[in-house]
Amino acid sequence: MARGCPFAPPPEYAELRAEQPVSQVRLQNGRTAWLLTRHEDVRALLSHPATTASRAHPAFPATVANVQAFAQKGFLLSMDSPEHLMHRRMVTGEFTAGRVRKLRPRIQEIVDACVDRILEAGATGRPVNLVEELSLPVPSLVICEILGVPYDARGIFQKNTEVLLSQASTAADREGAFGALRVFLGELVTLKAETPDDTVLGRLAVKYQDAGLYDHEHLTGFAMLLLLAGHETTANMISLGVTALLHENPTELASLVADPSLMPGAVEELLRYLSIVDYPTSRVLLEDTEVSGTVIRADEGFIASAAAANHDPEVFPEPGRLDLRRNTSGHIAFGFGVHACLGQNLARAELEITFNTLFSRVPGLRLVDPVDQLPYKQSTVYGLHTLEVTW
Ligand code: HEM
Repeated sequence: MARGCPFAPPPEYAELRAEQPVSQVRLQNGRTAWLLTRHEDVRALLSHPATTASRAHPAFPATVANVQAFAQKGFLLSMDSPEHLMHRRMVTGEFTAGRVRKLRPRIQEIVDACVDRILEAGATGRPVNLVEELSLPVPSLVICEILGVPYDARGIFQKNTEVLLSQASTAADREGAFGALRVFLGELVTLKAETPDDTVLGRLAVKYQDAGLYDHEHLTGFAMLLLLAGHETTANMISLGVTALLHENPTELASLVADPSLMPGAVEELLRYLSIVDYPTSRVLLEDTEVSGTVIRADEGFIASAAAANHDPEVFPEPGRLDLRRNTSGHIAFGFGVHACLGQNLARAELEITFNTLFSRVPGLRLVDPVDQLPYKQSTVYGLHTLEVTW
């Protein structure tokens, strides 16, 4: 379903929630799946123990174009417990709030360098494409930092990531970039296992070796997952977040710039409001289950719409209003249950630092084009292809 207003979820969600909160929908591949639109139902089924997240299950709602890529070894997203729990426990310590706090100065340096370049480019008087200069490089360089990609290899790493994620790439280009990144990450894992360093990947290689669980293919897949799950998501939140803040509420934006302590709450509200990851929160039920009066049978797939849940007026009154001071607790922009986003602390830090730095260092920032004419991308992760700004 396409979004009507650029920021709000598809209007059909509100109609379905009111009339038929558990309804059957037809997917692009011709198969059907159940669509859940109530916050309570979404949370109940995402934490239901008799479900599978395996993308290899024939009933898994294949809304993700490259669903096969997500079925590979090391992809936590596609694993079930006890295997999922065991691997998730191995990596959780690397993404805690404390670990991310230590990374903040480095994230600040990365963002500052991007904003330096934006200011330089803007000095020519021409508009700057924020997607290219800020949204994509920030998460890409932060992931390089996490994985411990050597400095001289970052150019090739970034280039392949860009091709993999760009809408302009052909299927063959994307396949090539995916293969190149896998080879690259495989070599990187070998390097970290042989000469471990003080990076996430270095520490994990040692941890897996010490536990007698070291598996080269698994760690390579996990590194690939971090890249795929952490890059496009954060990039699109930066682009859309900047757009929404500039467009929706200039007065609130001014108070945000004046008082950075408001930023963490504002980021949560932007995550809820924009809900850029909507339907990857899909599963297959493994036993008959009643939800809001409808029985979903074993081996049927469902999409627990995060955008619909985050706009359920029972939980978030006037959900279509961006209210930077609202209580957002219970939003599921990072998913819910055992697969809830592993990188959420990191994503929050990246967003807070990026918005704070951009709006304070580039006062008078404004969009070149009206919001209804921007090139939105309606793919697995909602976002923007480009975003021209000036000041
Ligand atoms: C604003 C940015 C982000 C958003 C909106 C987001 C959203 C999500 C959502 C909704 C899920 C759950 C998917 C499901 O239930 O099937 C998820 C899982 C995941 N995310 Fe994020 N994510 C973001 C950033 C990141 C970052 C920066 C990283 C790491 C570098 C990351 C790593 C992961 C991983 C590894 C999982 C799978 C967890 C598991 O299956 O146990 N994400 N994310």
